[in-house]
Amino acid sequence: MTVLDRVEGREKVTGTARYAFEYPVDGVAYAAAVQADVARGEVTAVDVLSARELPGVLAVLSCVDAPRLEPVPDGELALFQSARVSYRGQFVAAVAAETLETAREAARLVRVEYAPESADVVLRADHPGLYKPEKVNPAFPTDTEQGDPEGAFAASAVRVDATYRTPAEHNNPMEPHTTVARWNDDGSLTLWDSNQGATPVGETIAKVFGLGADQVHVVSPHVGGGFGSKGTPRPNAVLAAMLARAARRPVKFAVPRQQMFATTGYRTPTIQRIRLGADEDGRLNAIVHDVVEQTSTVREFAEQAATPTRVMYQAPNRRTSHRLVRLDVPTPSWMRAPGETPGMFALETAMDELAVAAGVDPVELRIRNEPDREPESGLPFSSRNLVACLREGADRFGWAGRDPAPGVRRTGRLLTGTGVAASTYPAYLRPSRATARAEPDGTYTVRLAAADIGTGARTALTLIAAEALKADAADVRVEIGASDLPGAPVAGGSGGTASWGTAVVRACEALAGRLNGGAVPPGGVEASADTTEEVKGREDYARHAFGAQFAEVAVDVDTGEVRVARMLGVFAAGRIVNAKTARSQFVGGMTMGLGMALMEESSMDERFGDFVNRDLAQYHVPVCADVRDVQADWIEESDPHLNPMGTKGIGEIGIVGAAAAIANAVHHATGVRVRELPITPARLL
Ligand code: MOS
Repeated sequence: MTVLDRVEGREKVTGTARYAFEYPVDGVAYAAAVQADVARGEVTAVDVLSARELPGVLAVLSCVDAPRLEPVPDGELALFQSARVSYRGQFVAAVAAETLETAREAARLVRVEYAPESADVVLRADHPGLYKPEKVNPAFPTDTEQGDPEGAFAASAVRVDATYRTPAEHNNPMEPHTTVARWNDDGSLTLWDSNQGATPVGETIAKVFGLGADQVHVVSPHVGGGFGSKGTPRPNAVLAAMLARAARRPVKFAVPRQQMFATTGYRTPTIQRIRLGADEDGRLNAIVHDVVEQTSTVREFAEQAATPTRVMYQAPNRRTSHRLVRLDVPTPSWMRAPGETPGMFALETAMDELAVAAGVDPVELRIRNEPDREPESGLPFSSRNLVACLREGADRFGWAGRDPAPGVRRTGRLLTGTGVAASTYPAYLRPSRATARAEPDGTYTVRLAAADIGTGARTALTLIAAEALKADAADVRVEIGASDLPGAPVAGGSGGTASWGTAVVRACEALAGRLNGGAVPPGGVEASADTTEEVKGREDYARHAFGAQFAEVAVDVDTGEVRVARMLGVFAAGRIVNAKTARSQFVGGMTMGLGMALMEESSMDERFGDFVNRDLAQYHVPVCADVRDVQADWIEESDPHLNPMGTKGIGEIGIVGAAAAIANAVHHATGVRVRELPITPARLL
């Protein structure tokens, strides 16, 4: 098994790895933004006089006087283009100044007047504004139906009919959403920016400013987390570039965490009704998964929460649906395994309820409902090792002989219990380009605009290139994180390493063909690859990673506090390129699932219409003391239908199912079924 330390690890721990805000740019100025303080209405006046008079202020822009931008599909990037306020916290003005302190003081002095309108900010399952989106992300059918789901459910011997709720949740990457923008003398724009994909960010920002794609240079070699919230450019990139133009100076802007909750996306809250109908042995006859979620008036974001239900279990009668309502709220966006994460919380909790109702062990129940083809598409799986993960996990976790009775294991004040849930995530592949170069000194340089957002992608690509070149990893340099490099897709959908790696392998193969065993000439030799045709030409298979999550909890009967004593995840995700960074991805995902189960919740203030959370004191994520014993492992999986490396994605599957495993363990411990996350003491007692 390959184990390679993060190639940029030394730079990171010694503080020499440079993040967007840290670039020393001559003459740089600092930005601060003003947020709307009504949830819906019109801006009627913006008084910037006292802000402009403050010594050190260089420019003030607002929605009443900003330069025009080109329209792009993401309405969140139409910064200051309208006097309309679509949600509380929307950016309505911004200031550039000599110092950050001056910028913030000037932003405070900007006076904005509104004609407020009554706002609608609460998601309800019976909201009159619910509508059927044309598709759900990224391009799945909104609804599916096979057989007679209602009739089959009604006729089933064992039935579960339950509604689950997940709250709004916010990505909280350690590095803020940051851009340093500089307009160059040739009219081009350089952005030192924290994002998940320099190529798509450059392309989108070029459109916003009416530039050619090669006129925007995005530089992002190191990124301190994104989880989806940096998957598309956020308003900070537009704001910095607009202010830089107005101030005729480079401008730095990092979205303060207090402003992040309104402006950088969040996981939509969901209300999910699941109906499972089975025979007395727990064999499913009907599965119905109906999802209700919110989006904003600025842009439609349709989380595909029911899509994993199309993949997981056999049943002849089935239905999935998604309904949205446009509320006067910030626009939801990607958050680690969007779709699968909330969807599998609901489905895998319902499966646990079915196991209890049918009197079947929950591991055995899942094995009994294993399909031999992807249930809704009928496609063969390229590989599917869920059963192997369940068996291996059960074995290692010590599942055998588990007493299914809930609420009976008590030691002092603590009730203990165990739970299981399945996990799945699609294995995507997108077109990418790359170059590989043999240097005269015997080393190699591989270039592409991939992004390492802390995942270990740079290290994995180094290993992939070394293998393809039959070289030592120490002789391979991988240059990523800049839009001037060969174009590459986003670090998202757990498809980064698969997509970039395919292009790297093809470039390295082309290089080896050119060298043909001969010596490298003094100028070096370079080869390039573009995988557009290869990606288009793939055979039809259902390609997904799978996993099994196990958890043990202890619940304090007096306080309702839940402690996760241990978690074990066993995954089947194709070939694992680098054991060290892969384990860290799985454990990180499981830890985020622990946060989802017990802590994470963005609370909508119904009176004012924004999230009350402002920082990590109000938005709780797991800390070291919460994460006691989290183990992740995988089974060897060889799948020839994926890509030249044989990899599936690993960035997101770790979170999928983790919250359900914990919730199911809480039920086993206490006998209380909590169907609304997070599982706080108030919901348990
Ligand atoms: Mo991830 S939410 O696909 O960036």
